[in-house]
Amino acid sequence: LYIVHIAAEMAPVAKVGGLGDVVTGLGKTLQKKGHLVEIILPKYDCMQYDGIYDLRALDVTVESYFDGKLFQNKIWVGTVEGLPVYFIEPHHPNKFFWRGQYYGEHDDFKRFSFFSRAALEFLLQAGKKPDIIHCHDWQTAFVAPLYWDLYAPKGLNSARICFTCHNFEYQGTASASELASCGLDAQELNRPDRMQDNTAHDSVNPVKGAIVFSNIVTTVSPTYAQEVRTAEGGKGLHSTLNFHSRKFMGILNGIDTDAWNPATDNFLKVQYSANDMQGKAENKVAMRRNLGLSSADDQRPLVGCITRLVPQKGVHLIKHAIYRTLEMGGQFVLLGSSPVLHIQREFEGIANQFQNHEHIRLILKYDESLSHAIYAASDMFIIPSIFEPCGLTQMIAMRYGSVPIARKTGGLNDSVFDVNEETIPNQIRNGFTFTTPDEQGINGALERAFNFYKNNKESWKQLVQKNMNIDFSWDSSASRYEELYAKSISRARAQAS
Ligand code: ADP
Ligand code: GLC
Repeated sequence: LYIVHIAAEMAPVAKVGGLGDVVTGLGKTLQKKGHLVEIILPKYDCMQYDGIYDLRALDVTVESYFDGKLFQNKIWVGTVEGLPVYFIEPHHPNKFFWRGQYYGEHDDFKRFSFFSRAALEFLLQAGKKPDIIHCHDWQTAFVAPLYWDLYAPKGLNSARICFTCHNFEYQGTASASELASCGLDAQELNRPDRMQDNTAHDSVNPVKGAIVFSNIVTTVSPTYAQEVRTAEGGKGLHSTLNFHSRKFMGILNGIDTDAWNPATDNFLKVQYSANDMQGKAENKVAMRRNLGLSSADDQRPLVGCITRLVPQKGVHLIKHAIYRTLEMGGQFVLLGSSPVLHIQREFEGIANQFQNHEHIRLILKYDESLSHAIYAASDMFIIPSIFEPCGLTQMIAMRYGSVPIARKTGGLNDSVFDVNEETIPNQIRNGFTFTTPDEQGINGALERAFNFYKNNKESWKQLVQKNMNIDFSWDSSASRYEELYAKSISRARAQAS
């Protein structure tokens, strides 16, 4: 198949969180399975350009409509992680992707509706005829209505549209009048069975639009797919998802096992594997030294946490876990940053409080290299999320031999299984879980993990080695996407004939 992903992120060159990892990991795996996979991204000024190979501008520009005018887009092509990527650089006076950051601009709705339309225009003008156009999250959700309203009639009509929602918290809702900028008919679409927001009726909701207009709708784990179909979990979209339930399903993400492999990871001080764990211990020593933590007592478990610091991730529980870890005689390293100013400030306060502490370190920034070092150095890894569509850090942690302590929600519920849970087979038990999102909940799981670590050294080692050998690759999940794509294509053919 010919599959085009239109997305706002792609690891490692334009990554804010897991979305970037998924676009690359899924794309690479589908390519390995023999499909032609291409990615379309905005050309952000803040990308990591050293991860893009053979970047060059195409000779022709692509003209796209916005706010009643036509604008030229320069199209760049390059290779990222072996995947062909087209980067769209709009010649628009608002310099949409020249802002020094990916998201969080006052005009994000305009920036990404512009991009969605320009991406489709590029496919049309370049004569590309993908079998599948796969868009992700609200930023490229506009692709679905744009495709059926404007591009299928124009001849780009071979494609089926797949939409993956990585997080229903972010829906991109805006005043209905904003929709006209990208050429969609705001009046036609601002209806309850189309893009009208289910609660704010003068607003349009891009995620709802993509659910309505896509042929395939997925989210990133089976448990989350169930949660979002309830009033509590659906962030206002549960009724829409229930109405369209026949085309909606949850597929658990994988991780890119080439990028996340302790045996070949160049970010690490020493590489290691499940059969040769000495390297893990050396990474712990090296990281403690680099961060100025005490190495005096090797019995102290090192707890890691790498996360965007947003309410979804259970920031109050992360904060609590720092103090509780210290009380229980452990060490704690947090790597995270927050787009929410008061949360960032609060953690800066804690970071300052522990500035020279021998057991606690908070590093409040985005740092790819340090993230690898923490996965490798830590013994345990906490993910106390309030909700979690999939979560990748628990899988990466296990691959690096760090045992997850996670709240049972969304994709964490589908990938972390408590060592004491007797109703599930022993061979798939891999961590410590808790249910209630409060201090008692996380205390219980942390305490059980610490006791296990201190009192059952041999069993702990076996647990770590078993976890490192779990297959978290994209192979089986990419096959699920292949099946969905193929089914949708054959359904379309059957309808056409
Ligand atoms: P989300 O997408 O909700 O942020 P995921 O668990 O799906 O959560 O993915 C998070 C990804 O971002 C992981 O690859 C993780 O290692 C990475 N990450 C998160 N915060 C940081 C940070 N401060 N520095 C480096 N990498 C980070
Ligand atoms: C979102 C979710 C996260 C998921 C990631 C990739 O950012 O918050 O749970 O793992 O997307 O799908």
